[in-house]
Amino acid sequence: MEQKPIIDVRNVKKVYHVGSVDVHALRGIDLTIAPGELCCIIGRSGSGKSTLLNMLAGLEPVTSGEVVIANKHLERMTQSELILFRQRHVGFIFQSFNLMPYYTALENVAFPLSFRGVPRKVRLRRAKEALKTVGLESHMNHKPSQMSGGQQQRVGIARALVTDPEIIFADEPTGNLDSNTSDDVMRSICDTVRSKNKTLIMVTHDPHMAEFADKVINILDGKIIDIHYNEQPQSI
Ligand SMILES: Nc1ncnc2c1ncn2[C@@H]1O[C@H](COP(=O)(O)OP(=O)(O)OP(=O)(O)O)[C@@H](O)[C@H]1O
Ligand SMILES: [Mg+2]
Repeated sequence: MEQKPIIDVRNVKKVYHVGSVDVHALRGIDLTIAPGELCCIIGRSGSGKSTLLNMLAGLEPVTSGEVVIANKHLERMTQSELILFRQRHVGFIFQSFNLMPYYTALENVAFPLSFRGVPRKVRLRRAKEALKTVGLESHMNHKPSQMSGGQQQRVGIARALVTDPEIIFADEPTGNLDSNTSDDVMRSICDTVRSKNKTLIMVTHDPHMAEFADKVINILDGKIIDIHYNEQPQSI
């Protein structure tokens, strides 16, 4: 029997109004993602990748259509329900890492736990475990400026995972890295996501990065033009 999807997107449209112009960023997206799937959304600049990711993560409202995640309708939630939803279910990895410069790697990773009433000691222990998962235990006390780009992004991966979310979203996670480092970081993302049985939705415009995913969703002008599966993802 086919597994119930963790993400179910039904006829999602997004129109931005810029002055008197309507920008149709998404023109009717239908998509399901199974739990544990590593998905890549690929397409050229301006095709609607980030817009789609933002709709899936509940960061921006849809114009019409439905986004159902773990049986919950995001488009029916209030702002405060969405914030709680993201805190409980979702982790983010950013292109520009978004680490706090005056905090150490350990403090950066522990930070998302501070909104959840987790005691400091437990926060630091869990942050340390997360840093270990990405091979950075030895850099715990380094500040971002004392780490390479690849190391900073691995801190970003640890921070996304520390709250144990079911779904990880990543928009161009290797966009600021050179190609060798990109491969290492992508492997690190995919290894951790697979080993912890999480679902990953990642955006990229780099076809090589898509080779790491199980499922590749190609979008153009706000529409899905192709979905294919990698028989042998690079990350296995
Ligand atoms: N906040 C916004 N206001 C108005 N238009 C927007 C907004 N965000 C995105 N758009 C428009 O929606 C379309 C899709 O943009 P989007 O950022 O999703 O593209 P993308 O595929 O992520 O591109 P890139 O690879 O350059 O990041 C573009 O035409 C863009 O100009
Ligand atoms: Mg984008």
